[in-house]
This record gives sequence, structure tokens and C-alpha cells, in this order.
Amino acid sequence: MHCTKRITDDIIWLGVSDRRLAMFENAFPIPRGVSYNSFLIKDEKTVLLDTVDKAVSGRFFENLAFALEGRALDYIIVNHMEPDHCATLGEIILRHPNVRIVVNAKTLVMIKQFFDFDIDSRAVIVKEGDTLATGRHTLSFYTAPMVHWPEVMVTYDAADKVLFSADAFGTFGAISGNIFADEVDFEADWLPDARRYYANIVGKYGTQVTALLTKASALEIDIICPLHGPVWRQNIGWYLDKYKKWAAWEPEEKGLVIAYASIYGNTENAADILASKLADRGIKNIAMYDVSAVHPSYILADCFRFSHIVFASSTYNGGIFPNMETLLLDIKAHLLQNRTMAFMENGTWVPMSAKLMKELISPLKNTTVLDNTVTIKSSLKPAQEAELESLADVICSTLK
Ligand code: FEO
Repeated sequence: MHCTKRITDDIIWLGVSDRRLAMFENAFPIPRGVSYNSFLIKDEKTVLLDTVDKAVSGRFFENLAFALEGRALDYIIVNHMEPDHCATLGEIILRHPNVRIVVNAKTLVMIKQFFDFDIDSRAVIVKEGDTLATGRHTLSFYTAPMVHWPEVMVTYDAADKVLFSADAFGTFGAISGNIFADEVDFEADWLPDARRYYANIVGKYGTQVTALLTKASALEIDIICPLHGPVWRQNIGWYLDKYKKWAAWEPEEKGLVIAYASIYGNTENAADILASKLADRGIKNIAMYDVSAVHPSYILADCFRFSHIVFASSTYNGGIFPNMETLLLDIKAHLLQNRTMAFMENGTWVPMSAKLMKELISPLKNTTVLDNTVTIKSSLKPAQEAELESLADVICSTLK
């Protein structure tokens, strides 16, 4: 049996979804699963573009055998050497011993690190702009370093105007029958996971993503085939626009994340009251998160989405509450910038967290920190109402 989909007359999707994996990269929860996309071009030569994760290799090899219809595999192009795409490379060699492996020089080094088979005798080493003619198709290769590893390249098919974009334009989420983004309600059902995937997987490398977008803008693209999630053949400009904003660390929209760390509910109460006062001022886009209840990958994604962030944290062991510190380190690691931030802190004897949180995010570029820090000693008191009003006022005035 097989589960394949035709992308064009002779380009076939052979990908497989994994709905069992709890944590992608053993780091990010994926309750909607994930797909590993692999594509076969059936031309005068047969060309496979990337493979899949080891966990779904059985179904992948069924798909490959079905799609090849008894033909041998002539080439495999390795756009990205990360094991979620190339774990089955060794088995490809066993099944298709005469296959040529199309790689760049950096990929070659990594293949030798991950595998023990003889790569040198099989390698076709390509560099920026090189082409491979396979019959009707001519494939060209463009490097995309750090989107998401240093060896990444993308492949462009001039015949059908297809960009095989590696991790770029990918998303968490399993494929449920419909392989094309225009067959699902992408904005409603997929965008949050696409944003979360971008922010967490490649969010740090916005400069390199922008470089790839610039290269891609010189190509005529009708179809984008990423390594995860749906294939794009309509409304590509809409998704490109999201990517341009994310890559420049520009917020998609005016709005606010309130992330709080609360031990007995008093800091949470302050966050709730602030949100309520903002709502009274007509602010609609408010995403509030308990950092102990929500995985930081979700909060980071909304920090990429919105223009403003309020951090409210208890002081813990003389430092920042650990889950809040994890979130802030994540934000710092992904080089978030161009945001307005405000702080609230709590402490029963020495409130320290606001000072420490500000220090932690101080290397972030083009960040505006609002002056109106609120300090709570154990619990909010009626006399502090004015402080919260004034914080709400200043957030409101910078949001509108
Ligand atoms: Fe989907 Fe960077 O691997």
C-alpha cells in the first residue's frame, strides 16, 4: 500500500506524518504531530529530494517503492542533513546501491559524521548556482546556510517553477490527507504552528532567512515544497509576507503578550488586573500565559507575533522564577528585537526579579523598556491601583 500525492505530473510527495512523537527535536511539544516531506521527480532520471525521520521509515520506503514503479533511484539530493530528513540515507544506499548523492561540501562532511558508508564514490558535489539536468527538469542549487543548519541548501526546478525549500516555510502539524496549503484553512488551523515552528527552529537566524528570501525573489516560483507541512501553490505572497516580518523580527500586529510567573497567585492577580484595565481601554489582542503551565515555545511564538510584552515574575531564590528565566533565555537566544516591554515583580522580602529580567534582556536590539515597573511585596495593595492604571495608560498609548 502507499500514501503518496502528485504535486505536478512527475513530482510526487512521498512524505509521512508522525502523530506519536511527543517532542520534536526532543524539545518542542507537537500535539498536532509533524510531517516529514520527501519528493520524487520521475524524469529520464529519478531524483529523490531528502528522506524522512527514522521513526516513519517503513511507510516512507513503501511510498518510494510504489512511486518508483520498479525503476532504480538515480539521484538523491540532500538539501538538509538533519536526521529528521536524512536518517534513512544509509538504507537508501542499501536499497539503491548505484544512487548518486547530490550534496554540497558542508553536507559531505556531515554525512561522514553521521554515517559510515562510502560517500566519496557516490557524491556529486554542487555549489551555489550549479545545475543538474535530469531530462525535462533542470535543477539548480542555492545555499541557505543556517536556515536551519550551516549545510542547508534549496533546490529549484526551472521546468515546473518549484522551490524545494528545506526547513524554510515548514510547520509543525501532521498532514491529514490534504497536502496543499490551499486545501486547508491555513490561517486558522496552521498559522499558529507555522509561527511556532519558525520562531523556535529558525527564529534566531532571521538575517540568513532574509538572505534566502532575497535569493528566492530572483526566481519565478509557482510551488514551494517545504520539508514539513503543506505544499504551497496559491497565495504564496501571503506566506512570504509572514516570513519577511518574522525574519526581520518585526511584529505581525500591534498586540500584547503578558507572561507571568506566580507561586501563590498574587503575581497572577496583578497580571489579570493589568489585562482587565487594558481591555477597558479597548485593547483586543492580549495573550496571557502562565509560564509554568505553557511550554515556552508557544509563548515565544506569540512574542514573534505581537509588538508588546509584559513580564510579571515572582522573585525566587534571590533570582528570577525559573520558568520565567527559561522563557527570557529563549527570547534572548532567538534575538527577538523591535519590541516594547514592561515589567512587574513580586517578592516577600527582597523583590529582585524586575532588575534581573531587565538585565537579562538588555542585549536585545531596539527594545523599548517602559519605565513604569510595578513592584509588589507579597500581594497587590489598593494604594497600587494608580501604578497599574499608569502602566495600562503607557502601554495603551504605545500600542495605539
Ligand atoms: Fe526539519 Fe532542520 O530539520
